[in-house]
Amino acid sequence: KFERNVIITALTVSALFIFSIFYALGAKRQDVSECLPYNKTYETARVEQIDAKTYQIYYVARMWNFEPAISYIPVGSEVDLFVTSLDVVHGFNVFDKNVNLMAVPGGVAKTTVKFTEPGVYKIVCHEFCGTGHQNMEAEIIVN
Ligand code: CUA
Repeated sequence: KFERNVIITALTVSALFIFSIFYALGAKRQDVSECLPYNKTYETARVEQIDAKTYQIYYVARMWNFEPAISYIPVGSEVDLFVTSLDVVHGFNVFDKNVNLMAVPGGVAKTTVKFTEPGVYKIVCHEFCGTGHQNMEAEIIVN
């Protein structure tokens, strides 16, 4: 009888433990940026509309600008951001959204942001990349 209780307790504890690991992994998935397998399509800067409230923006960084420089997104949209670089390593920081990515040549970083408030969201390069570094900016205009 006692042994059975011990076994049940042990099983319950390990089940909870395993569950909490998966739960933590699942929660992490939401807001941690991912690295994706690279292909040439990421070198074409563009905005794509997936459906009424879902967009994808493909950013291309190079000395010393980001493309697209200005993107218009309807308020309430969920936006996947893909970022790559054509030359050196650049930074990619979206103000007010706690997004900090690296734009790496031959690599692509991805994150997803929901824009629930209208506004102009500035993007800057926060990795020193040469004399034009402080001029590297873009905007997402949400309205
Ligand atoms: Cu690009 Cu600093």
